[in-house]
This record gives sequence, structure tokens and C-alpha cells, in this order.
Amino acid sequence: MISNNTLQQDPREHGFVQDPYTLYHRLHEAGEPVFWETYGFWCVPSFKAVNAILRDKRFARLAPAGYEPPAMPSHLHDFAASEQYSLLALEPPEHTRLRKLVNQAFVNRQVNLMSEGIHSLANACLAKVAEQGHFDVLTDYATPIPLNVITRLLGVPESAGAKLIEWSHAMVRVYTMTQTHDEELTANKAAADFQTFLRDILEQKRNVPGDDLLSQLLIQQASETTLLDEEIICVAILLLNAGHEATVHQLGNAVLTLLNHYPIDKRSELMDILDDDTRSDALVVECLRFAAPLHLFTRYAQVDIQLTESVHLKAGDQVGLLLAAANRCPVRFENANQFNPMRSDAGHLSLGAGIHFCVGAHLAKLELRIALQALFKRFPNLRLEGSAEYQNSYHFHGLEKLPVAWD
Ligand code: HEM
Repeated sequence: MISNNTLQQDPREHGFVQDPYTLYHRLHEAGEPVFWETYGFWCVPSFKAVNAILRDKRFARLAPAGYEPPAMPSHLHDFAASEQYSLLALEPPEHTRLRKLVNQAFVNRQVNLMSEGIHSLANACLAKVAEQGHFDVLTDYATPIPLNVITRLLGVPESAGAKLIEWSHAMVRVYTMTQTHDEELTANKAAADFQTFLRDILEQKRNVPGDDLLSQLLIQQASETTLLDEEIICVAILLLNAGHEATVHQLGNAVLTLLNHYPIDKRSELMDILDDDTRSDALVVECLRFAAPLHLFTRYAQVDIQLTESVHLKAGDQVGLLLAAANRCPVRFENANQFNPMRSDAGHLSLGAGIHFCVGAHLAKLELRIALQALFKRFPNLRLEGSAEYQNSYHFHGLEKLPVAWD
């Protein structure tokens, strides 16, 4: 599988998708970047290297001038338009300007005010399933909470939730680098419908602004004349998609981790932690490290770079950053493959680092803490009922279903 620093691993292979950590362990043992043949670029697994590249200005999400990948094909025209001003598709100075505007609309103080709303949402979901005796954590809990939180934050009607999920699922397929032509057509249609939907909402909010992030961006637009509607739409699509996809899967992965790590005879240890907000925050950080939902991001070398003694990158080369492997790096973490919310060397790269560090990091951690506290408080004897399967996607490492029951 790994020979001469070359990795032959089909990222679609079922066994690998279910457990990428065995491979990560081997990569750490090998101790060098590997050239992943399927993707055609070097990948780095160590915490130090991934962290350094995320913060290094000689690397960027975009290819340097003259090395741009071919434009998206015409059947992805609307998808490309939805990305044109996405923060993830920009670099300084354009990124700096737009990120500042989003940050202004997204301050922690305002996010903290959402605590009570998140509590009520979590409890409402749990009340719905309480009579049933069993439920699927993914469908009935991990999906509705982040979705409702992000729609409320942006000021998008909650009734649009089902459509947003459909569009978002269709669009993220394009980031897996393993999508089919039909999936691209579906993603393009989703992007077109999503933009039309948001354009209508902006018109409504221009007339009747509310107390939400989209209205705030429109208010900023009035003084910052260069802020285009298209920019607001791209930012909104990114926030709506990034704001729930990763959180849904992080919550599912966290619940599974806790069920495995605290079986019923050790459950009181978990309940003690969840009783305390500070210890619960540490638990969330360890869940982010141990069970990350996003495993592979890439960067382009902007200039020629000697990555290691044996790996030389040319300007325009891509490099793969294995975030979840970095989280299990034995050089950075003691007993890296053990879940330990008390670890003194806590940390992770699941939310990125550097200029593209996750805008929603504070919100995501708050949602995770409250959702985990509410779930186990309501059902202290929660247990897995059947098996948990990861969905068929390496990049987005999240569960297809997580059936649970309680006594
Ligand atoms: C546990 C849940 C989440 C995870 C694991 C996650 C992970 C990430 C990561 C790894 C990046 C950096 C990508 C890169 O450097 O290439 C990122 C960026 C981003 N995230 Fe999150 N995210 C989560 C939740 C959220 C939420 C709740 C929101 C919005 C409310 C959000 C909005 C964004 C945005 C807008 C960016 C782009 C920032 C930029 O390019 O400047 N994320 N996220």
C-alpha cells in the first residue's frame, strides 16, 4: 500500500472509508509525506507539517497566476458562480476584505446569545423522539440542530430546511474529487436554485431588514458600496453549507465516540463531565481531535518549495493536508489513538488554522457542547442499537446513520 513514499489507496474503498485511521497510523510510522497516486499529489500527515502549511503564506487555496486549473466546465456554470466569492475561493486582499465583513456580522458575543435557543432546539428534538424508545441520532438530532441554528442566524425561513439540505448535499459532492457527471449536473442545478432562493430573500430583507446576519450584511452594503449582492449570496451559501454539513457529522461522530468510550458501566464518568461546562468544552475539543468530520483539504504552492529533504514542490503543485491524521500525530499527542478529554496536550486541526480558520468555530463548539449535554441528560442510558456505518465519502467522514435506544 505504501512503498517508496507512494500511497496506493482507493479513497472510495469501503474498508478505508469506514476506518481511515489504520492508514494514518502507518503513515505516521513511515514518518514522511506520501505521494497519493489517486489524487496525484503529495500528502502530509504530521501535525507539525499540516499546521505549518495552513499558516504559511507560500501556500494558498488558489493556484498561483499562470498555474490555474482549467475553468469549470460549462455544465457547472451555476456551481462556479456560487463559489466565485466564497471565502474558501478567495485569497488576500479580496479574502481579507470579505472575511472582515463576515467577522463583523459574526461576533462571539452574538453567538453566545444563541445558547438558550440551541438548548430549546435540542430539547424539542428529544421530546419528539422520547415516546419512540429509539431513534436515529443523525436524522432526528444531529441534522435539525445545526440546520435550524444556521437558518436562524442568517435569517432564512426554517421551513426551507429540507430544500437547503438537498442543495447542500448535492453541492458538496463536487468537493470529493470522486463525483460522477450526473452528480455534477445535480450540483449545478442545486447551486442555481440556491442562488435564486437567496436573491429573493435579499430583496425581502432590503425592504424589511431583520435582526439577522443577512440583514446586517445588507446594512454594511449600504456603507461599503463595493459589497456586491453576488458576494453576499456566495457568503450565505458557504455559511449555510459549511454551517451545517460539518457540524451534523461532528455531532454524530462525537455521540458515537462517547457511546463507545463510556459504556453504561462507565457512564457516570461522562455524566460528571457533562455536568460542568468547562469540562464539557474540553470534551468537545477532544471529540474534534479524535473524530474529525473533514479529513482532506488542499493547498497550492505559490512558489517552488523544498518541503522535506526528498520532496520538492514546484509552484502550482497541490499538497494534501490530512487534518484527521494530524490530529492523531504521535509526535504532537501522547497516546494519540486514545480518547482522553483530560489530556494536557489538548488541541486539533479539525477547524483549520491560518487565514481560512473556520468562521463558525465558536458556534460549532457551542452547539456541540449543548447538544451533547442535552442528549445524555435526557437519556443517561443511551446505547447503540445495531451498527453505525460511515457514509460513502472519504473527505466528509460522517455517519450514514446512528441508531440508538435506551432502557
Ligand atoms: C464542527 C463543525 C465544523 C468543522 C469541523 C469545520 C471545519 C472547517 C475547516 C477545516 C475550515 C478551513 C478550511 C481550509 O482551511 O481550507 C473551515 C472554514 C470555514 N468554516 Fe467551518 N467547520 C465547522 C463548522 C462551521 C460552522 C458552524 C460555520 C458557519 C456558521 C462554518 C463556516 C466556515 C466558513 C465560512 C469557512 C471559510 C473561512 C475562510 O475561508 O476564511 N463552519 N471550517
